[in-house]
Amino acid sequence: HSDRSTDYYELSVRPGVAEILPGVPTEVITYNGSFPGPTIRARRGRSVKVAVTNRLQTPSAVHLHGGIVPQDSDGHPLDVIQPGNSRIYHYPNDQRAATLWYHDHAHHLEAEQIYKGLCGLYLVEDPAEAPTLPRGQFDIPLMFRDVALDDHGQLLWAMFDAQRRSTVLVNGVPQPVLRVRRRKYRLRLVNTSNERMFAFRLGNGAEFVQVATDGGLLARPVRRTEISLWPAERVEVVVDFAKARGGSQITLVNAQGTALENTEVMRFEVVDGIRKDMPDTDDSSVPQKLSVLPAVGAPVMTTRKVVLSFDFKNLVFLINGKPYDPHRTDFTIKRGSTEIWEVTNADPDPIPHSLHVHVVQFRVLDRDGRSVEPWEAFPKDTVSIASGETVRLLIRFDAPYTGVFPFHCHFVDHSSVAMMAQMRIV
Ligand code: C2O
Ligand code: CU
Ligand code: CU
Repeated sequence: HSDRSTDYYELSVRPGVAEILPGVPTEVITYNGSFPGPTIRARRGRSVKVAVTNRLQTPSAVHLHGGIVPQDSDGHPLDVIQPGNSRIYHYPNDQRAATLWYHDHAHHLEAEQIYKGLCGLYLVEDPAEAPTLPRGQFDIPLMFRDVALDDHGQLLWAMFDAQRRSTVLVNGVPQPVLRVRRRKYRLRLVNTSNERMFAFRLGNGAEFVQVATDGGLLARPVRRTEISLWPAERVEVVVDFAKARGGSQITLVNAQGTALENTEVMRFEVVDGIRKDMPDTDDSSVPQKLSVLPAVGAPVMTTRKVVLSFDFKNLVFLINGKPYDPHRTDFTIKRGSTEIWEVTNADPDPIPHSLHVHVVQFRVLDRDGRSVEPWEAFPKDTVSIASGETVRLLIRFDAPYTGVFPFHCHFVDHSSVAMMAQMRIV
């Protein structure tokens, strides 16, 4: 009878069939038969145990992206569940409420296994945080990913195949229609793509009010008309459909100047309330102060460089000149310390990369010396790095755990071919 009780979940990793196109069975990989995987709801301060059984022919590891978890529950690429085996992951949820997601992380296999379906949402909730935001049925997660489908509606899989992955799925289906009432909604946008970057706009030019980023609520809401979302990033917005006419349709489109530009990703169909004479009531609101973010803390003792590049001879991506070696320690970091990481995209090909660091939420200080907007500053766990750009991160290693944790590009087609490194927290 303390708050420290535990919730249990079971996940079985197994082949399955999804209905991506109506009436067409598509072979996928699933958690519990679901594509994408089931949403796990956790509460801040209450731990979760997830028992995972691997019914695939390949190894699998489950990683909780954005989670502050002990090393033996982090899903290190070599710490896999072999075919036929089970294990229990332990998630303490001693962290801010946030939209996290879980996904496969088996060494060299994660790109294919995530692409085929091994990902799901993990929501850490805290009823004390911004309680007036839209909730319950008005709080809707939207997971985006691109796929390539063949003539028979089957998933085509090839690394670096982003061009052909031109079908955008939202929660597992292309161009869904979501019926909404004339009121405010909280939408949790999650990009689970292997290497597709999105830039969303609402078709009627309406605004998004961004309330949260990777690691949870911002200090204050920010009005935006376009939301860019790189692989693994999360953005939470409030959209108000109150002024839309009943029966009208509002599209979510990929903005101009992006890949798949002007593609309609999904549609909101505005419906009037049950009783025409009684308008929907909406007592939700977006407070001007959403949360108090933790202070920067300890002085910075260490500055490190992280250089992202490519080796043309061996055709592998590199971090600091080396391909990933899961047995090597790249950085040794003191638990409790604060560091600055200068991350440079020095890939000779003009392609974007990103950096995701396990077990922390960091601040993005600046891009090529220019300070960044508050909505992309903090708290983040994945950051975009354009070709040639240098991004500085302020990272506080305040998790109570020691051990080896990866950091990598979250274009998983890249991380699967060596664009990964790891730190030992001591
Ligand atoms: Cu979402 Cu190491 O990854
Ligand atoms: Cu992660
Ligand atoms: Cu990359």
